[in-house]
Amino acid sequence: MSQPIGPEPRRGPPNSNPSMPQREPKTRRILVTGATGFIGRALIPALVAAGYGVRAAVRGPLPARDKDRGRDSSAGTSAFPEEQGHGWHGPSSQSLAPGENGAAAPHSLARSSPSPDEVLGARAEEEPRVEHTQVGDIGPGTRWNGALRDVGAVVHLAARVHVMAQSGSGASAEYQRVNTVGTERLALAAAETGVRRFVFLSTVKVHGEATGARAFTESDPPLPQDAYARSKWEAEQALRRIGARTGMEVVILRPPLVYGPGVKANFFSLLQAIARGLPLPIGAIDNRRSLIFVGNLADAIVKCIEHPAAAGGTFLVRDGEDLSTPELARRLARALDVRPRLLSVPPSWLSFGGWLTGRRDAVDRLIGSLAVDDSKIRAALGWGPPYTLDEGLAATARWFLARTR
Ligand SMILES: NC(=O)c1ccc[n+]([C@@H]2O[C@H](COP(=O)([O-])OP(=O)(O)OC[C@H]3O[C@@H](n4cnc5c(N)ncnc54)[C@H](OP(=O)(O)O)[C@@H]3O)[C@@H](O)[C@H]2O)c1
Repeated sequence: MSQPIGPEPRRGPPNSNPSMPQREPKTRRILVTGATGFIGRALIPALVAAGYGVRAAVRGPLPARDKDRGRDSSAGTSAFPEEQGHGWHGPSSQSLAPGENGAAAPHSLARSSPSPDEVLGARAEEEPRVEHTQVGDIGPGTRWNGALRDVGAVVHLAARVHVMAQSGSGASAEYQRVNTVGTERLALAAAETGVRRFVFLSTVKVHGEATGARAFTESDPPLPQDAYARSKWEAEQALRRIGARTGMEVVILRPPLVYGPGVKANFFSLLQAIARGLPLPIGAIDNRRSLIFVGNLADAIVKCIEHPAAAGGTFLVRDGEDLSTPELARRLARALDVRPRLLSVPPSWLSFGGWLTGRRDAVDRLIGSLAVDDSKIRAALGWGPPYTLDEGLAATARWFLARTR
């Protein structure tokens, strides 16, 4: 069995002489793509808190600090402070140490974790254990070799994400270019450079857009309904082929809707509408939707980097409970400290209204169920979400209120 990538539990003081630099194994360096995105911004502090060094791949220009580091490192020294003799002493990795038989206790991070705001409030630009590297546009021609140097694991978040208004063959080709071919090229380069583990953020949409009485499990057949979901499913298949051929350990996560500080799109619009006290015609919807707080997802990704049993796995993840759309609105209202105004309009009327206004798909998503069964990741990795749904919603509400005040 291959060596675990995760931090070793500390056994006594690692180095009693404070003037000696603390060197860490190369396997503790993680390349994160999509580092500037909503999930990337939450993942990086979680990786740092777990004791990893992070190389954050960005499309655009580097933060000023990393440009300076680039000049400083012209003599070949690493941008990581511990390798320049700064002697950074990482946080204790005790809370992430695997338990007996390699399985971490469920909720192992639960009460030893920082609060959601502490985790999510950290700024990657200011964190000394985070180095940025510019990779430009991700696609068939991206050159990855420099970014992959001395990296033990890759977390591939960057993607052309789902945009409802985008359809047609041009959009479809673009999803394919970035999400399928871009992922395949990165994985091939990673395997060639000796990266041990590759964690890929796919989506629940690989299974389809709606569930009936039963939640999706990982073994349900793929049924992607749009170009975004198809590009992710094709990327998953390419990764499996590369993993089988090269021995690189591929882990695939399929999250449902992710929310948290920095959330965009429909979830942000819902927050805005509730905060403004607008009446919402969703009171009669009776559905069931899974979602996941970004702090919980970051924790699951950390687990997938280090747990031996994650290798080769595909996992659906979610918060500890599913909600109906009106219940989500009520919980958000509570977190925002406002009264929800929910009108009981029959869902069939909403559907008709959606059809009239050309927004049938969006309305169907609001009305329909999309639930996932997370028993596989709980059983295989002993993972459970460290934050409750209400803690996640409260952190999201605090962020929303702070930015709108
Ligand atoms: N958010 C959700 O609800 C959700 C649910 C399921 C799965 N996911 C998956 O989670 C991952 C991260 O999503 P997110 O919500 O963090 O998305 P996001 O906020 O839109 O961030 C996307 C990231 O990808 C980068 N990117 C996009 N296209 C690129 C390209 N052609 N070349 C280089 N970089 C590119 C962006 O860089 P720039 O900053 O330069 O644009 C950004 O860093 C994605 O793979 C997504 O499919 C998300």
